[in-house]
Amino acid sequence: MATTVILNIKGLVQAGESFSASVSGSEMKKLPVIENAFLILKDGKIRDFGPMEKYTAPPEEKIGEIIDATGKYVLPTFVDAHTHTIFARPREEEFVDRINGLTYEEIALKGGGILNSARRLQEKTEDELFEDAKKRIEQMISYGTGALEIKSGYGLTVEAELKMLRVIKRLKEFFAIPIKATFLGAHAFPKEFKENHEGYISQIIDEMLPKIAEENLADYIDVFCERNYFSVEEMERILLAGQQYGLKPKVHVNQFSILGGIEKAVELGAVSVDHLEEIDDYDIEVLKKSDCIPTLLPSCSHFISIPYANARKMIDEGLPVALASDFNPGTTPNSNMSVVWSLACIKMRLTPEEAFNAMTINAAAALELSKEIGTISRGKRGSVMITKPVPSLAYIPYSFGDQLIERVIV
Ligand code: NIG
Ligand code: FE
Repeated sequence: MATTVILNIKGLVQAGESFSASVSGSEMKKLPVIENAFLILKDGKIRDFGPMEKYTAPPEEKIGEIIDATGKYVLPTFVDAHTHTIFARPREEEFVDRINGLTYEEIALKGGGILNSARRLQEKTEDELFEDAKKRIEQMISYGTGALEIKSGYGLTVEAELKMLRVIKRLKEFFAIPIKATFLGAHAFPKEFKENHEGYISQIIDEMLPKIAEENLADYIDVFCERNYFSVEEMERILLAGQQYGLKPKVHVNQFSILGGIEKAVELGAVSVDHLEEIDDYDIEVLKKSDCIPTLLPSCSHFISIPYANARKMIDEGLPVALASDFNPGTTPNSNMSVVWSLACIKMRLTPEEAFNAMTINAAAALELSKEIGTISRGKRGSVMITKPVPSLAYIPYSFGDQLIERVIV
């Protein structure tokens, strides 16, 4: 593989050797920037970087490309630690229902929402789902995403959940970027199990999980712990069963209500707890005593008009907050992490630096990828994005909705 050299970089962001696996609380405000810098990528890895005056050119015959980044920033790519990228079709009719006054929960109770997506997905072939997801991931990479997590959860039958996870496995093989697979069979109770929770939970535990383990289809296990979905006790049983197969929890909790799911998930060793639009002081204390990463999804709050998670308080209390897109057809039909960056600053009052740390270092920690990605450090993946010429770093989240990432190298 060739060597790529990037020169005259206005600001090389998050470059250095001594980063911790995650950054918490007031540390999140710090974002190192080397001004007027160079960066050398070799064989897909970060080879060297520093101020321009320290640059010595590699032998000419070894250089594949020289990029002049005058006026531009170079940053590590975003890590999107929570997505539902595989789905059959968008759900803009529910968007119109909400404009006309229904809430997300009311639409779901009418048979829309997750069950709507599950019906459509069951009709699609593995190849169709793969092709659609491939295009979506190509777009995500063009927006600057250099690693992501993808959940199942729109299958809700043994066959369809396995189909989704097999698609994720193929995507892992197809793309050069790290992709983690999360089994979310417990996303909603299918209609026929509405009054028979036991029946569906035993399908998850006795039929889905053994097959998933046999084919090695998942890295994590997720449950949507919420009123009208899975109770804390149901989540506990499913997560314990997942543990038997080595799947660590990453869970949907506290999106609409506080049921005690955070404490239970932390007790069961969750790598992350995601959403947290509703949270109380007790939950924050629980998180402070753990290594679990609170992963917040501002694009979801924006799109379905629910409160934003109180990221400001979580950081002020010393937590290592991560941010992700939650890309999915129901609550977040957008996978652009620059939008997440803007919303985190505008609506959650994070500084541009805090939000960027939350989308890189801490998001990598939420996928247990800290050694590989999230900073520009020698030996890590050569996964970087180059901006258009911009006056400052803060200008990127400030100019919300603009696409200022000009080029992405993964
Ligand atoms: O993270 N809340 C649960 N799951 C998704 C939405 C799923 C859907 O509406 O299709 C979320 O927001
Ligand atoms: Fe989600």
